[in-house]
Amino acid sequence: MPKTILITGSTDGIGKHLAMKLASEGHEVILHGRNSEKLRVALSDIQLKTGNKKIHGYLADFSKLADVYRFSQEIKRDFEQIDVLINNAGAYFGEARVATAENIEMTFMLSVQVPYILTTELLPLLEKAPAGRVIHTSSFMHHFAQTRGLDFGLEQSYSATMAYNNAKLYTIWLAIAQAEALEKQGSSVTVNAYHPGLIATNLGNDGVKRNLRSRILTSLMKPFSKDLNQGIETGYYLSLSPEVTGQSGHYFSEKKVARVSLKGFDVAKSQALLAYLDKKIQVFKESYGD
Ligand SMILES: NC(=O)c1ccc[n+]([C@@H]2O[C@H](COP(=O)([O-])OP(=O)(O)OC[C@H]3O[C@@H](n4cnc5c(N)ncnc54)[C@H](OP(=O)(O)O)[C@@H]3O)[C@@H](O)[C@H]2O)c1
Repeated sequence: MPKTILITGSTDGIGKHLAMKLASEGHEVILHGRNSEKLRVALSDIQLKTGNKKIHGYLADFSKLADVYRFSQEIKRDFEQIDVLINNAGAYFGEARVATAENIEMTFMLSVQVPYILTTELLPLLEKAPAGRVIHTSSFMHHFAQTRGLDFGLEQSYSATMAYNNAKLYTIWLAIAQAEALEKQGSSVTVNAYHPGLIATNLGNDGVKRNLRSRILTSLMKPFSKDLNQGIETGYYLSLSPEVTGQSGHYFSEKKVARVSLKGFDVAKSQALLAYLDKKIQVFKESYGD
């Protein structure tokens, strides 16, 4: 039975490769990108190579909350049901802290704030699916997160590595919090987080200035990288496998529930994270006169 699957950040890397595989199997795939030319190329590549006509493309720059909300409005306008939402868009930023107009640090914005908003906004469409699935893209790097003081915006101290590791930890916290909330509401929608593996993609090559240590580390890791076919295995499994039906609030790696470093996660921290996310949305909405 073909599914309708939305993949954010599907103009490159893991997202595009996964979209290609899902399209080749006849699923309806909604692509998303921030660059119109890359989106056009991804759309035509996938349509040409797979012959699948049910491939759609949407443009939205996730560094702006206005774009995130416009994007979700367009999806709600154009689709009745979504079976799988894959929050894949992500980036590794440079050594200077970059933030949105609401002062949301950009790594956190892409990996946590946007997935939170999209899950919330698209929930009615996910609820229409027999067993809607939300997949947040975390990373093994979450094991190295430093959460002292719960400085979600990294306003006290910032480094690109800490921003990335922390955002990927908060992605897991978010999956757990959302899974619990949805279960309490009696929803059949599940939320999980996963690590795709170490894959040689464009991640971190985004014209950012990285420090020497980070660049040496990346080049040392390259020989251990998996290829893109391996890089999409767990995302593909979480999207479609019947083994995952009903499983929620987990962190997966290599197609299995994996050990997670929660860094003292508890109810209070879960609430603090959700309150921070809601506060940023409120600031945004107030600035738009909502
Ligand atoms: N590669 C790895 O080893 C690895 C390991 C663990 C986790 N991950 C996670 O896997 C996910 C995919 O990464 P990847 O390796 O495939 O990276 P990638 O090749 O750089 O792809 C990232 C995607 O996100 C999009 N994106 C970036 N910033 C955006 C923004 N402001 N607004 C909208 N879209 C934006 C990119 O758009 P453009 O095409 O315009 O750049 C691209 O489509 C990320 O969440 C990453 O953190 C990757």
